[in-house]
Amino acid sequence: MKALVLAGGSGTRLRPITHTSAKQLVPVANKPVLFYGLEAIAETGIREIGLVVGDTQAEIEAAVGDGSAFGLQATYLRQEAPLGLAHAVLIARDYLGDDDFVMYLGDNFIVGGISDLVERFAASRPAAQIMLTEVGDPRQFGVVELDADGRVIGLEEKPAQPKSDLALVGVYLFSPAIHAAVAELKPSWRGELEITDAIQWLIEAGLRVDSSVVSGYWKDTGNVTDMLEVNRLVLESLEARVSGHVDEASELIGRVVVEPGAVVERSRLVGPVIIGPGARIVDSYVGPFTSIGAGCTVSGSEIEYSIVLPRASLEGVRRIEASLIGHDVEVTPAPNTPRAHRLVLGDHSKVQISS
Ligand code: DAU
Repeated sequence: MKALVLAGGSGTRLRPITHTSAKQLVPVANKPVLFYGLEAIAETGIREIGLVVGDTQAEIEAAVGDGSAFGLQATYLRQEAPLGLAHAVLIARDYLGDDDFVMYLGDNFIVGGISDLVERFAASRPAAQIMLTEVGDPRQFGVVELDADGRVIGLEEKPAQPKSDLALVGVYLFSPAIHAAVAELKPSWRGELEITDAIQWLIEAGLRVDSSVVSGYWKDTGNVTDMLEVNRLVLESLEARVSGHVDEASELIGRVVVEPGAVVERSRLVGPVIIGPGARIVDSYVGPFTSIGAGCTVSGSEIEYSIVLPRASLEGVRRIEASLIGHDVEVTPAPNTPRAHRLVLGDHSKVQISS
């Protein structure tokens, strides 16, 4: 069995944080989201992975290399434009040969890995096996309709009027039967070769498509709240480790990771918290569920429940919460401007005014 990992696509429908880089490399607990996928694939025993890449190929290659760091052998498959998930299968035809394969969307995050799914597929070998999850706004996803017995009867990509709230998760298992389906496809209304259409083709050809419903799923929807939540979830299973330097005047409470080359001085860190390699935390407070990226500076500041990407600096700011701060960002206090309070206070009032 092989894996086909989709790490292409253009940056057009992304939030600002990924304007300048591949969305598959957005960090969760200081690790690119793509790496969790690669680890989940390696865990199943699969060794050969084809990585579909586009404009951001150089960045993806710099991060993943030959795959050996994950126990995988990576082959890069260049897709000239993001023409659809089924188009990615089409260009991978020769690489995949007649093997079964798992197709994994590189910007998806699945809690608990995929080993069970791969085992189930290998044991029962349907033409395709898909994963579904309940979502709040199905219009952003591929949506699946099931019959009374739970069999898949229809799939639609980003429907204006969804027939259910069950969305396709970005992990699909395919037998080589998918290639015949993909070869027949015509571009959809959005100009892409849709994998949902290919799966529908399998159903109409009378082939078996199995499905299962999962929880613990996250996908980049440009939603910072979700991203902070998945960061929290991953930090929950952090084990404390101090490889950097923490001075005597600092206090580490709970599960705190301080990576090599990081320096913590006169600060209080309340875990779960991860401080990336080479970061400097000075005279500051870092509270629960915070990931501080490599080479960041946090000085005279307070931050909690946030993600800070590499090389950003926070100097003299308090207090930052529930925030996502991009690469190389600088946050500093606004200069003091004269402020006046206009008050109408009743007799015997007690007021507190921040000065
Ligand atoms: O995440 C689940 C959803 O993923 C499913 O519910 C949808 O049915 C499925 O079409 C897909 O929808 P998205 O519109 O969210 O896919 P997106 O364009 O974000 O692409 C998913 C990943 O695949 C992303 O890492 C980029 C990569 N990709 C995408 C396209 C269209 C490629 O490598 N090549 C492509 O041509």
